[in-house]
Amino acid sequence: MAFAMEHKGVESTCFADAVTRRRSVRKLKRHASVNQAQIDKIVRIVVNAPSAYNMQSGRLVVLMDDEHEAFWDLAKMTYAQLLPEEKVASFMERLDGFRCGNGTVLFFEDEQTIREMQEKIPANKDSFVDWSHHGSGMLQFAMWTALCADGIAASLQHVNAIEEQFKERYHISPNWKMIAQMPFGAPDEEPVAKTMLDYADVVKFY
Ligand SMILES: Cc1cc2nc3c(=O)[nH]c(=O)nc-3n(C[C@H](O)[C@H](O)[C@H](O)COP(=O)(O)O)c2cc1C
Repeated sequence: MAFAMEHKGVESTCFADAVTRRRSVRKLKRHASVNQAQIDKIVRIVVNAPSAYNMQSGRLVVLMDDEHEAFWDLAKMTYAQLLPEEKVASFMERLDGFRCGNGTVLFFEDEQTIREMQEKIPANKDSFVDWSHHGSGMLQFAMWTALCADGIAASLQHVNAIEEQFKERYHISPNWKMIAQMPFGAPDEEPVAKTMLDYADVVKFY
């Protein structure tokens, strides 16, 4: 009963809208009304995403405003050195598309938690790394969809080559493995056209 009452305000159409409208928006601009309190409210919802054995190995870092820009500056410096010369200009432009937003959510997985679960439940030892990634995917999808439901555009990125420099700068535990980044803000492009497989080829009912 208490459960039903707590969830009374949630309309399933809001969820359907957010899931179907969510797109990858890679060219961002600043969203005038986005602030830390709003993002914090969203993140507090998102951390309810499930994880195997409720191990909660996901960790998040949220960078707003100047810190968000500094992150993408660091990414630009790192990738300018890593990429072949002919690819640098277009990749820098791509990274600038993220930098022009309001913030970035960084997704990590705590490897210490995973090791502890492997010791606690040896029968599933080989599954915990996979399950950690599944759990991170759940967090990523929840975050992306919740941002969309609040009218905030985002994309999912993997500029993980900057992991070490980033962790040093923010004194992040060496146990936190960087998985992905989600820059967010207002859209400054139309999402690219997307094709979907035929529903009947993807889903079977019996
Ligand atoms: C696991 C996963 C990894 C992805 N990695 C990237 C990425 O590194 N860079 C990027 O721009 N998009 C990335 N994407 C976004 C996909 O390309 C995108 O979701 C897909 O093409 C469908 O488009 P939509 O998000 O607009 O619906 C990733 C998506 C998923 C689910």
